[in-house]
Amino acid sequence: MKNFPALLVLTALAAHAQWNLMPLPAVIEAKKGTFNATKLSFQITGGDMRVQRAVDEYGQRDATAPNFTIQVLQPGAAVQQLGEDESYTLDVDPGIIRLKAPTSLGALRGLATFAQLRVKGAVPAVHIEDRPRFPWRGLHLDVARHFMPVDVIKRNLDAMAAVKLNVFHWHLSDDQGFRVESKVYPKLHEMGSDGLYYTQVQIKDVVEYARLRGIRVVPEFDIPGHAASWLAGYPELAAAPGPYQIIRTWGIFDPTLDPSNPKVYEFLDGFIGEMTKLFPDAYFHIGGDEVNGKQWKAKGLTNTEAVHAGFNQKLQKIVAKYGKRMEGWDEILSDSLPRNIVIQSWRGQKSLFEAARNGFSGILSAGYYLDHMDTAATMYLVDPLDEKGRASGMLRSTEAKTPPSPPLTEEQRKRILGGEVCMWVEYVSPETVDSRIWPRTAAIAERFWSPEGTKDIADMNRRLDWTSTYLDRFGLKHNTNYQMMLERLAGSNNVAALKNLADVVTPGDLGLRHRMKRDYTQQTPLDRFVDTARPDSPVIRQFNALVEQYFDGGKSPKVRAQIDQWLKLWAANDAILQQMAENRPALAEIKPLSKTFSALAAAALKGGGMRADDALFQTAKQPVAEVRLSVAPALTRLATTP
Ligand code: ACM
Repeated sequence: MKNFPALLVLTALAAHAQWNLMPLPAVIEAKKGTFNATKLSFQITGGDMRVQRAVDEYGQRDATAPNFTIQVLQPGAAVQQLGEDESYTLDVDPGIIRLKAPTSLGALRGLATFAQLRVKGAVPAVHIEDRPRFPWRGLHLDVARHFMPVDVIKRNLDAMAAVKLNVFHWHLSDDQGFRVESKVYPKLHEMGSDGLYYTQVQIKDVVEYARLRGIRVVPEFDIPGHAASWLAGYPELAAAPGPYQIIRTWGIFDPTLDPSNPKVYEFLDGFIGEMTKLFPDAYFHIGGDEVNGKQWKAKGLTNTEAVHAGFNQKLQKIVAKYGKRMEGWDEILSDSLPRNIVIQSWRGQKSLFEAARNGFSGILSAGYYLDHMDTAATMYLVDPLDEKGRASGMLRSTEAKTPPSPPLTEEQRKRILGGEVCMWVEYVSPETVDSRIWPRTAAIAERFWSPEGTKDIADMNRRLDWTSTYLDRFGLKHNTNYQMMLERLAGSNNVAALKNLADVVTPGDLGLRHRMKRDYTQQTPLDRFVDTARPDSPVIRQFNALVEQYFDGGKSPKVRAQIDQWLKLWAANDAILQQMAENRPALAEIKPLSKTFSALAAAALKGGGMRADDALFQTAKQPVAEVRLSVAPALTRLATTP
């Protein structure tokens, strides 16, 4: 804040908490006044059609008396490159807005910021200087377990651009589906997809849609494991005799490509040659996770890790032959591979640092698994460069026992390119996917974009609630489908009692759902209460904060009155919900949960003194119908604290 009058600096600091921006810019300084023109007229200097397209969403171009000037020094690469300059400065003054950026990408990021500032119409005068902390800020989406149609992809790309994410990692094949048309090997999509695949015309359309929004598209074809859908059409590629079919359930399965068969590499050469033409990005993801090696062992290839590394060496040469850099999940990490590949760390942060130490580039996904159903705040605190490894990967417990390694050097830290949020869709449908991705992903987008010290959870949550509504404008259904699914469950638009319960639960994570109901398949409808409920409900967060404030702040009667309002509503809820559930088979499974919830609220309302070992509290801890009652700890505290 150099050269700023002291008074203005104070204004800037005081106002800071009130900015509705996500991600927060690197520098933001309030100025006096507002820009309140209702019509925008732009003058663009430099840049390319990406900037023009973005501007056309807001107003007129080539105006004689512009009130919004955009100055772009270089158009930027036609195929977006990793590490291109995305910085910009944005100056809003009462009569004029000026956006300056070194590249078209920077201009897009500046316009995304402007769009958030403009929600209220009048834009407060402000000076913003902004740039990303990490060059690789992605969303990984699995479309194999449940196919996601093009309109789902496009609205999510719009939302990604709105929060400055710049990589769409498209998980296009797995045991449960092969989702791209191949003209070279048509049995891949014909026999591996139930007809649910993207045509090459659709792929090109999505890649261009993403490009215009400053988003790279990295395709993933997961091999040599997770490959059953390939083998449905081409069983001769497998390490054990077929026939094979698409797998309809979830887990780690045996079907694996045969690393000892030269024909497999010929096939992959033809396939990768075709796909690299379709996907212009410099990176090509080959999966590589969860290879169980059973089929390999059966044919004498006993050292799974070594065999996998040998396979990856050959695969990397094919990928490189088509001008691409290979990317894979952290299982592919091996000294035998060239250092220009990218490691995607999913089992814990340790592999990311190990990769960086050994000269590889890497991105973090451990800790950003949306299907773990963690709150935005939990994931927000996971940092790609935090070597203490708060990341909640699967190896969390074993990592905790590993002795600490020396800190990374500056050079090694630079190899950590950023991260990707992961959306796996075993228990997610096109109807529910937005509510699993958003708004939580916006918080992680801030972790990837904003300065390292951006860690105010309360302010993040405030802005997250704002962002959730803001994102509605991109056609996302995380809010609208909630209401619609509640109405469908209730068989009526009178959903208040059902919503009261749905607002205080968290859908079970992948593991819980798998344990509680063993017969899920790809065809099981995902339209139950658990699918309707949303992760990180704002009601849970707000109620928990209120209870904390009550106990930490000397039991203020004013806070208690607010708490009691909730408790009265909730204590009376079960009677209404039981009636509603009478002729609704879809609601039968939540009757016991509703009863526990209201009983717990009534106990909390009585105001303390119950024994902590009361059966009610034990019952409230148990998941029911694959959901958890997330206000149970706060209610228990109220009921038991004298
Ligand atoms: C993964 O979650 N298996 C990469």
